[in-house]
Amino acid sequence: MTPDEMTAELRRRLAFSHAPYSNVRVAAAVEGPDGRVHFGVNVENAAYPEGVCAEASAISAAVGDGQKSLRRVWVASSLPAAIWPCGGCRQKIWEFATAGCEVLSQAPDGTTETETIEALLPRGFRLPR
Ligand code: THU
Repeated sequence: MTPDEMTAELRRRLAFSHAPYSNVRVAAAVEGPDGRVHFGVNVENAAYPEGVCAEASAISAAVGDGQKSLRRVWVASSLPAAIWPCGGCRQKIWEFATAGCEVLSQAPDGTTETETIEALLPRGFRLPR
């Protein structure tokens, strides 16, 4: 998938978001080392804390499809400026991130900024082995 195709696909999927409470639509995509991509949107709930972020939704889709390592994560939203994953989602990405895993935040015009997950979540939690 080219960067332009990814931008278009994320924008298209914002319509699938279930965000009647915040009115903030978010779409995310996660890519594994083999290039397979899984998508997710935020799914809010009338019991507010039960809502799920788009990144968590995409990670669940990936893991449920046998994809347990991530090399790229894209995020796009209906807000006018680019957004970055919340703290909880940074930890969820960290769990499955391969070395140098990138998070790409897309503004509505497709402008994309990139950070590594290590930069977004320094010293993330991992159980000692
Ligand atoms: N949200 C996401 O899905 N991903 C983010 O990176 C930040 C926030 C959702 C949660 C909630 O449904 C809405 O955006 C407003 O906070």
